[in-house]
Amino acid sequence: MVQVKMTVNGKAASGDVEGRTLLVQFLRENLHLTGTHVGCDTSQCGACVVHVNGNAVKACTMLAAEAEGADVLTIEGVANEDGSLNTVQQAFQDHHGLQCGFCTPGMVMTATALLKENPNPTEAEIRDYLEGNICRCTGYHNIVKSIMAAAGQDVSRIAAE
Ligand code: FES
Ligand code: FES
Repeated sequence: MVQVKMTVNGKAASGDVEGRTLLVQFLRENLHLTGTHVGCDTSQCGACVVHVNGNAVKACTMLAAEAEGADVLTIEGVANEDGSLNTVQQAFQDHHGLQCGFCTPGMVMTATALLKENPNPTEAEIRDYLEGNICRCTGYHNIVKSIMAAAGQDVSRIAAE
């Protein structure tokens, strides 16, 4: 076992893990932050996306020990300070960017990373950025629309699906 220490959602977190423990396991099983989901075992679905030192990372592709000392942000840490939904979360709610919700934490974390890099993305840029996130329910249309809305774009011309 090895001890790992990191900052998660602004708070110090530590635990004893096996060397092979993945970051997503550490978050879910040690810290009980179960908003970060596991949707595959092939690093394809993106349900596990968190931010590590400000970058979107699939938490199933990183060992917990590799996050030693890192600053990790999960879906549990993105709401506004008063607990209300942040701009991206609110846009997903307003524009029906989710159905079952399984992919949603990863989608929100990926969308947040995109908007940090590119605050005014085109529809094509959003679709390209979401390539690593799979949704089995929505057909992506309303996810893209939600992200455009979160960027402050007028989505009234885009039909609902
Ligand atoms: S669980 Fe990480 S990509 Fe699917
Ligand atoms: S809303 Fe169900 S997988 Fe995306």
